[in-house]
Amino acid sequence: MVAGARSDLLALLLAVSAPFWLQAEELGDGCGHIVTYEDSGTVTSKNYPGTYPNHTVCEKMITVPKGKRLILRLGDLDIESQTCASGYLLFTSSSDQYGPYCGSMTVPKELLLNTNEVTVRFESGSHISGRGFLLTYASSDHPDLITCLERANHYLDTEYSKFCPAGCRDIAGDISGNVVDGYRDTSLLCKAAIHAGIIADEVGGQISVLLQKGISRYEGILANGVLSRDGSLSDKRFLFTSNGCNRSLSLEPDRQIRASSSWEWTNEAGDQVRWSPGQARLQDQGPSWASGDRSKNHKQREWLRIDLGEKKKITGIRTTGSTQSNFNFYVKSFVMNFRNNDSKWKTYKGIVNNEEKVFQGNLNFRDPVRNNFIPPIVARYVRVIPQTWHQRIALKVELIGCQITPSETQGNDSLVWRKTSPNIVGSTKREDETISKPTPSEEMPEGISITTLVIPLVLLALLMAAVGIFAVLRRRKKKGNTYGSAKIQKTGHHPACHQGEVRKAPSVN
Ligand SMILES: *[C@@H]1O[C@H](CO)[C@@H](O)[C@H](O)[C@H]1NC(C)=O
Ligand SMILES: *[C@@H]1O[C@H](CO)[C@@H](O)[C@H](O)[C@H]1NC(C)=O
Ligand SMILES: *[C@@H]1O[C@H](CO)[C@@H](O)[C@H](O)[C@H]1NC(C)=O
Ligand SMILES: *[C@@H]1O[C@H](CO)[C@@H](O)[C@H](O)[C@H]1NC(C)=O
Repeated sequence: MVAGARSDLLALLLAVSAPFWLQAEELGDGCGHIVTYEDSGTVTSKNYPGTYPNHTVCEKMITVPKGKRLILRLGDLDIESQTCASGYLLFTSSSDQYGPYCGSMTVPKELLLNTNEVTVRFESGSHISGRGFLLTYASSDHPDLITCLERANHYLDTEYSKFCPAGCRDIAGDISGNVVDGYRDTSLLCKAAIHAGIIADEVGGQISVLLQKGISRYEGILANGVLSRDGSLSDKRFLFTSNGCNRSLSLEPDRQIRASSSWEWTNEAGDQVRWSPGQARLQDQGPSWASGDRSKNHKQREWLRIDLGEKKKITGIRTTGSTQSNFNFYVKSFVMNFRNNDSKWKTYKGIVNNEEKVFQGNLNFRDPVRNNFIPPIVARYVRVIPQTWHQRIALKVELIGCQITPSETQGNDSLVWRKTSPNIVGSTKREDETISKPTPSEEMPEGISITTLVIPLVLLALLMAAVGIFAVLRRRKKKGNTYGSAKIQKTGHHPACHQGEVRKAPSVN
């Protein structure tokens, strides 16, 4: 998008000021949900699929690795303006311009660009209605890219493979069913794949779908931060083909499960009631394991440790709370540790940000919730460490996985995953993370020292003025047409449901 001089300038600014970097990359408060990864992502207008605001701008540069071409796929475009004078969507690459698009004009569903970079610009004037846009993109390695909005009943084939972009989890739209029984064919494909643990929302990926005869009822559960709904009879349902590493790993209660503490109390009849770690198997009836300490602020973390006897590949975990209606205890979020015979405990981290990954746990004492490990954990010991809970820590667990293959045996106790390149192209920031992170101005970007920031303010002001002039020149160059005149404002972050955040639990009873 930028000429040499301007990119030099941006590079300099980038080194000087992190907040400015965010602004340069994503201009305006008209952007909604944005998730980008190395080679795919999702961008929407603000409030999508609700009505976008008056007088707003969203400008976002998207990039796939050098040498690849960029595929843009519009899932939805609904802009009220018929002439593009007071609202439009425009794509600008170094060599071409696509759009402006608006109103009822026919818009290409998919664009294959000659470049690996494009600037997406959305602008609105005064209007009454319109959803704005939903755009997905990927590199040309993924010609079978779909958007977050495709449902299985969109395709007639009984077997097919598609590429889901990063960022479909939090797009509005229902799914019904679960990974075992399958999903109702009216469900969103990519969201269902995240629910099923086939792909991670942060990354996206290839899915393989099998269409089968429908069933009379689809049972909804919470899995991987996505809540599927109960669904009624349908003609067709779909299943994902998986690598088969999905068996329940058997556990011996007394030998293999330990905990930091357990709860004991004496009932009215004078009997000792124990909620011991051996009771933490999901398949067992009766009360679960519960921790002895019920204070919320204790320093020492409680844990439940499982010894699998040997190194195994662990692809998921299912958890419940107490399962007893008179003990409304459950764990709302947790992190995972893993280790082998004599190594140190390691924390399971997110794919993208290298931070401790917080899993969304139970919503009530009863219903099982599943979380998948993408990439899988390969370890002999795992530890569940509750982070937040309702009343008291109480857990039953089931680990899902398989034996490791000989080649994996030789490896380190580690994660089986393709290496992410150190110089990740494109941003891995997700807008909805901001509620759990310090604001950009509080956060020092890695490798930038205080001294760098003490560059005289005069210089900074000069640079900003220069960028302003460049921006004006650039606008003039575009056929003298500015398509409306909404003000560019500071990047707005709006809080959304973060994956580590626990959704509001429906009231039990
Ligand atoms: C935009 O402004 C007009 C006029 O003030 C108002 O009628 C309309 O509801 C506004 N639209 C939105 C989406 O806020
Ligand atoms: C596990 O994977 C195999 C192979 O893909 C599949 O046939 C089976 O239905 C899966 N089981 C569950 C419980 O998902
Ligand atoms: C880990 O310990 C088990 C039993 O104590 C032993 O059989 C196994 O060989 C050990 N593995 C390694 C890699 O040392
Ligand atoms: C295990 O990790 C160490 C250090 O991280 C590395 O030097 C070694 O090559 C790894 N071994 C295997 C088999 O990957």
